[in-house]
Amino acid sequence: MLRTIALASYAAGVAFASSNCAKPNLKAPACPDKGTITYESRVPTQADDFPRTQVDLCYTESALVLTFTAYNETTFYFDPEQGTNGDIWAYNVMEAFIYKGTDDPQTYFEYEINPDNVTYQAFIYNPSENRAAGAPFDHMFVSKPAADGLKAQTTLKKDEETWISEAEIPLAFFNVKNGQAKGTEWRMQFLRTITSEATFPDQELGAWNPPDEASFHISKYFGHVELV
Ligand SMILES: *[C@@H]1O[C@H](CO)[C@@H](O)[C@H](O)[C@H]1NC(C)=O
Ligand SMILES: *[C@@H]1O[C@H](CO)[C@@H](O)[C@H](O)[C@H]1NC(C)=O
Repeated sequence: MLRTIALASYAAGVAFASSNCAKPNLKAPACPDKGTITYESRVPTQADDFPRTQVDLCYTESALVLTFTAYNETTFYFDPEQGTNGDIWAYNVMEAFIYKGTDDPQTYFEYEINPDNVTYQAFIYNPSENRAAGAPFDHMFVSKPAADGLKAQTTLKKDEETWISEAEIPLAFFNVKNGQAKGTEWRMQFLRTITSEATFPDQELGAWNPPDEASFHISKYFGHVELV
């Protein structure tokens, strides 16, 4: 199934890899230029009726820079008691799953940010590639995100029903040495959750390349990303 893909100034396409599901792709340049995708795809129905969500991606000498934009955000819902690496995914978050390589990953980085600018960051161990029942599924939390070089900035524009978070993630998390990002190939998935005081804990789920079941952790759906 083709997804809606808008690239700032680079050609879009759909790549087919080992597993037989179509994958969107994104080419992202060095900052300050950006590669851009948007999605309106719902998990698990795969219908294009989810609030529009945008991710801009570029890279610096030493970091990936992601700008997440949630349009049509009306609830901005989070738990003010939650802090770094808390269960912020139970409320409203925008997320990126990131792996350097081209195959369907078993271990990948999960980054989440909420409207309160709280972040969650962990390497996920998912050897079944789909969080199969009975298989291991683990989170290796990043305990010192600021010291490691992760950065975050969040802006809420409630009048415009828009929430923007920018994140920097060190390239060295992925064994990409300073200045060596150009030409590297990655698998990524972008995701968003929405709930509200009235509907919690039920959530609306959206993804760049939506799985056909209510799980984000199915790595064959991750799209292809190239840093150009
Ligand atoms: C979603 O946001 C766009 C602008 O960002 C606006 O034009 C559109 O009407 C909104 N849709 C809904 C259902 O609120
Ligand atoms: C968001 O959090 C980061 C640390 O993760 C901090 O540096 C920044 O000042 C915070 N505030 C806003 C408004 O983004």
